[in-house]
Amino acid sequence: MDADRAVGWSAEAATAGAQGRLAGKVAVVTGGGTGIGRGVSEMLARHGARVVLAGRRPGPLTATAAAIAAAGGAALAVPTDVTVAAQVEAMVARACAAWGGIDVLVSNAGVYPRRELADLSEEVWDLTIDVNLKGHYLCVRNVVPAMLRRGGGSIIFIGSVHGYTGGADVLGYAAAKGGLWTMTRNLARTFARQRIRVNYINPGWVASEGEVAHRQERGESLAWLEEQGRTAVPSGRLQTPEDTAHVCLLLASDDATQITATRFNVDGGLSLVM
Ligand SMILES: NC(=O)c1ccc[n+]([C@@H]2O[C@H](COP(=O)([O-])OP(=O)(O)OC[C@H]3O[C@@H](n4cnc5c(N)ncnc54)[C@H](O)[C@@H]3O)[C@@H](O)[C@H]2O)c1
Repeated sequence: MDADRAVGWSAEAATAGAQGRLAGKVAVVTGGGTGIGRGVSEMLARHGARVVLAGRRPGPLTATAAAIAAAGGAALAVPTDVTVAAQVEAMVARACAAWGGIDVLVSNAGVYPRRELADLSEEVWDLTIDVNLKGHYLCVRNVVPAMLRRGGGSIIFIGSVHGYTGGADVLGYAAAKGGLWTMTRNLARTFARQRIRVNYINPGWVASEGEVAHRQERGESLAWLEEQGRTAVPSGRLQTPEDTAHVCLLLASDDATQITATRFNVDGGLSLVM
C-alpha cells in the first residue's frame, strides 16, 4: 500500500465505521501517535471515524495507524510539524484528498519543557509558544475552510490546568495554554453560526510518553508518578488518555451540537487543589 494512502482502509473498516457513532466523520488528531493523542485517535476510530494522525515523528504515527487498522478501523499517518505552515497546509490537503473533507480537529500536539524563570531561555520560550499556540492557530487556519465546506465541525483543543493556574517552572507553557483558552472562546463565537463548535479539555495528569520521559529526566520514576496520582489528585489516581478520549468522543459526535466555548476538566479534581 502506498505510504500516502490510508492505512487500514478496508471494506471491513468501512462496514464497522458505517455502524459507529462517528460514522462518516473524518477526524484529524495532531500528536496522534503517542500519549493522549494516541488514546483519542484509537477511541475515535473505534467509533467509526476515519482518523488522520498528524505528528512530528513518523514511527509512532505509523505504529498507531497499524494498531487502528488491526482493530478494524481506518487511519492515515501524515508526518507533520504543526509549527511549519506549509506542512500543516499539506496535511490538511492530503486528508481532504483521501477522505473528502474534515469534520473534527483534535488539536493536541504539545511540548512542556519545565524551566524556572531564571533558566527560561528565549529559545525554550519560542519553542513552547510555537508548538503550544502557533501550532493550534496553523491547524485551525487550514482546517476551518474544510469544515465550512462540510457545513460545520468540531474543534477540540487539548489545554491544561496550567492555562488557568500557574507554576514557577511553566511560565511559557501556562501562557500558551491560557492563550488557547482565549482562542477557544474567540473561535467559538466567530464560527457558531457556521456550526463549527470549539471546546477546550484539561486532561489532568497523564503518565503519557512525554510526561514519563520528563519525569525520568528529573529522576522521578513511573512508580513515583503513580504515587502522586494516589496522593495529590483528589480522585486518587492519575488520568488516562482514555479519560480525555471519552470527552473527545462526545464533542466529536452529533450529540454535542449545542456544546461550544466550554472548558472540560477531565482531571479528577486536580484543578481544585492546584
Ligand atoms: N500528560 C499530561 O499530564 C498532560 C497534562 C495536561 C495537558 N497535556 C497536554 O496534552 C497534550 C498531549 O501531551 P502528552 O502528555 O500526550 O505528551 P506526548 O509527548 O506523549 O505527546 C505529544 C505529542 O505531540 C507531538 N508533537 C510535539 N511537537 C510537535 C510538533 N511541532 N508538530 C507535531 N507534533 C508534535 C509529539 O511528537 C507527541 O506525539 C499536550 O498538548 C500537553 O500539553 C498533557
